[in-house]
Amino acid sequence: MAYNHFVSGFLLRRYAPERNLVLAGFMGAGKTTLGRLLAQELSRRFVDLDEELAKRQQLSVREMFARGDEELFRHWERELACELAQEKNLALALGGGTLEDEVSWRELNVFGFIVYLHAPFEVLWKRINADATYRPLAEQLGRQGLEKLLDARSGNYEERSHFTVYTEGLSPQTIVKVIRHVFKY
Ligand code: S3P
Repeated sequence: MAYNHFVSGFLLRRYAPERNLVLAGFMGAGKTTLGRLLAQELSRRFVDLDEELAKRQQLSVREMFARGDEELFRHWERELACELAQEKNLALALGGGTLEDEVSWRELNVFGFIVYLHAPFEVLWKRINADATYRPLAEQLGRQGLEKLLDARSGNYEERSHFTVYTEGLSPQTIVKVIRHVFKY
């Protein structure tokens, strides 16, 4: 993460407190769990991008991928990310691939504070397997493929976020405290 990202994030938060708090990171990083906690604590509306997309399209993530391949899912994901980026006071959990799309990232970056929830692959892999959420990419790619995907995405996660939290070994409550402290929420 570039230092100027962090500083601009901090200052924008300070002078425009209604900006969206956006959580990014790989599958299993805890975006939804932490987003819910942060929304509760900060009295913000919580939106999980995948859930919202499923509600709007009336299709599960599994069905969206099955219907038009990944491309259709990414198209809908971008549309919704750009729409939500215009809202205020959200705690928004992205999908693991949302920041890969440059258009979505640019929009989210203008109106939001993007926090990257970093965790080592082993931790993510365990969570992905323990979790009942259906993840088409996990099924398609398997362990090795997912590890490669994380490697390929890590640069964007870091560079496209205002701040990175290294979450390994931290409880959700502690991570919430860190985010609140950094952005003076
Ligand atoms: C994806 C992650 C998923 C979901 C979709 C694609 C990805 O979200 O958006 O299965 O490309 O990493 P989670 O990160 O919430 O599992």
